[in-house]
Amino acid sequence: MTVSGATPRFRLLVQVPGPTQDVWRRAFAAALPEAAVAAWPDVAAPPDYAAVWKPPVELFERCPGLQAIFNLGAGVDALLATPTLPAATPIYRLEDAGMAEQMAEYVTLAVLRAYREVDAYAEQQRDRIWQPRRRRPKAEFGVGILGLGVLGQAVAAALQPFGFPVAGWSRTRRTVAGVTSYAGDDELGAFLAGTRVLVCLLPATAATVDLLDAATLSLLPRGAEVVNIARGSLLVDADLLALLDAGHLARATLDVFRDEPLPATHPFWHHPRITITPHTSAVTRVDASVAQVAARLRRLADGLPIGGRVDRNRGY
Ligand code: NAP
Ligand code: GLV
Repeated sequence: MTVSGATPRFRLLVQVPGPTQDVWRRAFAAALPEAAVAAWPDVAAPPDYAAVWKPPVELFERCPGLQAIFNLGAGVDALLATPTLPAATPIYRLEDAGMAEQMAEYVTLAVLRAYREVDAYAEQQRDRIWQPRRRRPKAEFGVGILGLGVLGQAVAAALQPFGFPVAGWSRTRRTVAGVTSYAGDDELGAFLAGTRVLVCLLPATAATVDLLDAATLSLLPRGAEVVNIARGSLLVDADLLALLDAGHLARATLDVFRDEPLPATHPFWHHPRITITPHTSAVTRVDASVAQVAARLRRLADGLPIGGRVDRNRGY
């Protein structure tokens, strides 16, 4: 039954790890008064749809009749790795839903920190050195964005007013105003060679895992910086450390890691030229995410097309 006691139009199961699950359930129930909304593990009445984040394997075993699965995040790597995931059920992911603005803030901060040499001036301040530094020409300060999808394009747009040359690399060629487009493996080298700050916003797939290793990172110009806000599995930790210690790379700003939380013994914690944030570059916003999924669920229930469909063969 729905809140009003009427027969529900459809049943939605909500699953989110930890104590916020009930916040999500209530938000979905408020956004979809015509639906019956339950929270995992309450599957007494079989759900038609599930909205999930990193679901336990039992969820799909206990919900065999799902018509669609909504991933409560942009990246679907964890969901696709769930061994019980039904093979044919359509999967939809969040697109932006409040994350693009946050990514734009994070990357703008990292790029301006690098360009305006905030860390070098902090060192000078420690030694009471009053010494203006030569400002590098912007033309030599290219920002390269790996992944020109929803978030990569938003980051590119946010950087436009500053006048840095902005390039993007994607699987297929993307035409984005003000962005030099590179596509495919053949063009990765040229893209990296012109990149002073490398921003990683690729999905974690079989094709992108370990992409940022010694071979690719060495193609960046000396003094380049790396910003990884995608997934930890794209970056080979030991190779990054070696290139930082050799002076080839100047700094890394890392929001995502192979193991999260980052283990206390990991060398990243103490490296003087690594900045760490705990997977918070873009947090999932309940209101915006629920609004997006609720609107899509209604359209789906009406037999209308919706966005955000994941291509399982591509892995994103
Ligand atoms: P998206 O819209 O699907 O964009 C993905 C981009 O990556 C597309 O441009 C795609 O190319 C490109 N790409 C995929 N595989 C590639 C390959 N093998 N070679 C070259 N380019 C490839 O995804 P999004 O919404 O922007 O999100 C990107 C990722 O950000 C997510 O998958 C997630 O892992 C991460 N993320 C992290 C956080 C955080 O808090 N740290 C938050 C949200 C998302 P095409 O354009 O040709 O398809
Ligand atoms: C967060 O990491 C997401 O993929 O939404």
